[in-house]
Amino acid sequence: MSKVSQSAGNSNNGNSNDIYNIFLLVVDILMLIAKFWIAIFEAVVGLFRPAPLEEVNGKVVLITGTGHGMGKEMALQYAKLGATILCWDVNEQTNNQTVKEIQKSGGKAFGYVCNVTKREELLELAQKVRKEHGFIHVVVNNAGIMPCHPLLEHTENEIRLMYDINVISHYWIIQSFLPDMIERNEGSIVALSSCAGLFGLVNLVPYCGTKFAVRGYMAALAEELRQKNPQSNVKLTTIYPYMIDTGLCKNPRYRFPSLFKLISPQVAAGSIIEAQRQGLEEAAIPRHFVAVEKIGRLIPRKAMRLVNDFLDTGVDTDKH
Ligand SMILES: NC(=O)c1ccc[n+]([C@@H]2O[C@H](COP(=O)([O-])OP(=O)(O)OC[C@H]3O[C@@H](n4cnc5c(N)ncnc54)[C@H](O)[C@@H]3O)[C@@H](O)[C@H]2O)c1
Ligand SMILES: *[C@@H]1O[C@H](CO)[C@@H](O)[C@H](O)[C@H]1NC(C)=O
Ligand SMILES: *[C@@H]1O[C@H](CO)[C@@H](O)[C@H](O)[C@H]1NC(C)=O
Repeated sequence: MSKVSQSAGNSNNGNSNDIYNIFLLVVDILMLIAKFWIAIFEAVVGLFRPAPLEEVNGKVVLITGTGHGMGKEMALQYAKLGATILCWDVNEQTNNQTVKEIQKSGGKAFGYVCNVTKREELLELAQKVRKEHGFIHVVVNNAGIMPCHPLLEHTENEIRLMYDINVISHYWIIQSFLPDMIERNEGSIVALSSCAGLFGLVNLVPYCGTKFAVRGYMAALAEELRQKNPQSNVKLTTIYPYMIDTGLCKNPRYRFPSLFKLISPQVAAGSIIEAQRQGLEEAAIPRHFVAVEKIGRLIPRKAMRLVNDFLDTGVDTDKH
């Protein structure tokens, strides 16, 4: 269909060519309209009929931050589904514990000590596990930290470390494992953003920066993959959890605890695994938060702030 623009402006070809080009353009527009509405129809149907779950039995799943919290729970649950888990964490002791728990219940897991901020070590380890385990089917960029206080109290080291762990390390990990996925045209990359990647939150200025960054690079990467191969079957899933009871979020505050209660890491991990297996591009925990953000952006800020003040929900500083 791109022929339209090729001969446009070439006046020597005469009238019949112009008419032909207009005809092609009209066909293109009609196709767009038809496909547009089919896509919307499919999305509406999809709301009521969830996508089927991809099989993970026998596949290799790499997760960072498996020593604690959601990373650990994901490792345990993926192992129960029959996957082989590669557990990466900076804390050797807690990571070993996760590996042991999986092995004790009959699952397959391998532990690797790794500080994801160290690029050289990371790349070396990536080569090593590719050699030892072959194709890595699912990569979950989960390790993250969340210092929580006003921007003016954040130190330089804290901010740089947060970006290194929460964002920059993802690039090196993706660069290590994506080429195999593109070659085989299969596999999934999952990234932990946060509701702090959907909304701007008090005491979390740099953290929100890292989580919006995750959302941004994942959206851009999806377009890059699609441009390279419109039939690309490599799945990218960005996860936006609300407050999860892992201890990461030290001082949650809420006016209506029954509306915004902490979610257990077990439930959150199950929800992430489901989103990955369904191949969802975006999934909040709970799911409806993505829609809340979209609707919230349509409402004037001043009005939205009134609602926020009424709900009075957030995280207090971890300093006092
Ligand atoms: N807990 C929440 O409320 C919440 C909400 C939204 C998003 N998230 C995100 O979910 C992810 C997991 O959160 P969690 O609450 O399970 O965290 P957690 O603190 O319970 O566990 C994080 C794990 O990552 C490991 N880790 C930290 N720095 C590392 C490094 N440099 N290299 C390797 N491993 C490292 C830690 O040792 C720990 O085992 C994070 O990215 C977090 O930002 C959490
Ligand atoms: C973790 O496990 C490895 C391999 O089993 C072992 O060599 C190492 O000493 C353990 N480390 C800790 C801190 O338990
Ligand atoms: C990981 O490495 C960074 C430096 O790159 C360091 O500041 C940080 O303390 C290390 N994390 C741990 C838990 O050792």
